[in-house]
Amino acid sequence: MSNHIWTDVNLLTMQEDGEAYGLLQDVALVQESDYIAWIGPKDDIPNHYDYEMTYCDGGYMTPGLIDPHTHLIYGGNRIDEFEKRLKGTSYEEIAKEGGGILSTVTATRETTENDLLQSAKKRLANFRAEGVTTIEIKSGYGLDTKTEIKMLSVAKKLNLSNKIDIIPTFLGAHTLPPEFRDNRTGYIGLIINDMLPKITDLRLAKAVDGFCENIGFSYEEIERVFIAAKSYGLDVKLHAEQLSDQNGAALAAKYGALSADHLEHLSEAGIIAMKEAGTVAVLLPGAYYTLRDTKLPPMELLRKYGVPMAIGSDCNPGSSPVLSLKLMVNMACTIFRLTPEEALAGVTRNAARALGLKDRGVLKEGLNADMVLWDIEHPAELAYHIGGNPIRAVVKNGKIFTQKNGDLN
Ligand code: NIG
Ligand code: FE
Repeated sequence: MSNHIWTDVNLLTMQEDGEAYGLLQDVALVQESDYIAWIGPKDDIPNHYDYEMTYCDGGYMTPGLIDPHTHLIYGGNRIDEFEKRLKGTSYEEIAKEGGGILSTVTATRETTENDLLQSAKKRLANFRAEGVTTIEIKSGYGLDTKTEIKMLSVAKKLNLSNKIDIIPTFLGAHTLPPEFRDNRTGYIGLIINDMLPKITDLRLAKAVDGFCENIGFSYEEIERVFIAAKSYGLDVKLHAEQLSDQNGAALAAKYGALSADHLEHLSEAGIIAMKEAGTVAVLLPGAYYTLRDTKLPPMELLRKYGVPMAIGSDCNPGSSPVLSLKLMVNMACTIFRLTPEEALAGVTRNAARALGLKDRGVLKEGLNADMVLWDIEHPAELAYHIGGNPIRAVVKNGKIFTQKNGDLN
């Protein structure tokens, strides 16, 4: 961890009050160890700071990017399914035939913990190289106690690198595993009575997620899982209203969920419930795009009611084989019609909120020194380009990594 002064820098603090993007133009930021110690006019840097200094020549600095929704750990791949979908079979049809999520479940059960770790590391490197400093990762491709724990143990190992923070989520209620085909209640019982207590004991998850959908679980089934999760002191969140309106967002809000995610079929009543509960709307343009969806999430209404919007990659082998959060920022604008400022807030301030993290997501004295220095001329440039990676430096928990030949070292 370094003590460091970043000066002649334009800070996109992403704080809500004040200028667009929370812009502070041509200022200085003092980083002390792993937190932001001081922000102010560059001529007023307190003179007791004799730290190393970087002149940023008017470059822009944002909070480290945060991906609030991924399924980054999995075995196998679903390239065959991608080709099937291109020939006209739908995502739901593939799932009903026993493919889709279940084919990844089979592969994940068969893959060793070490092999899962190695493949996840490679995927994670793509996010890190683009300035992602915090990423949520869900289980949900095990659907038995042993494999769910295996996935979450991989998440824990990925976290040890200290180069990126992993926020683990238990997604036992992703889909019904084949061995419980005729016993839905039995599977919910397994989640509640076996998986949840063991995962809580091992401190392997911060939150509990579910898939509330015709091809996932019903309102009532998810409610049972949420009640149990809450009794273990875990946060809840939900895949809601992705393919149909199941009243999932209102259910999530009823249990004070951190977020409800996807939301293409979200109703106004669901939006009002989310607003009242402070539940963040996590939008996932990668899944919308991959599934060639045509029903947009209700952005106008989300805006009207002031529901905070976050953006995630939904990185997974089926509905969103996305390895770039930056591309999601672009798609959030081009496809979902967010403004570049809303999209950037979606991968910083609101993404932190969607994960219940109060120590990051904006640039502010006292918060984590998680920052990215960009080689751009205008803040909207972060949403504008498709491809490219204009990073100069990434600071993670106070440690400085600079970009050299496409690598952060
Ligand atoms: O967020 N919607 C459910 N879960 C994932 C898809 C997982 C998969 O297809 O493997 C999603 O889109
Ligand atoms: Fe998902």
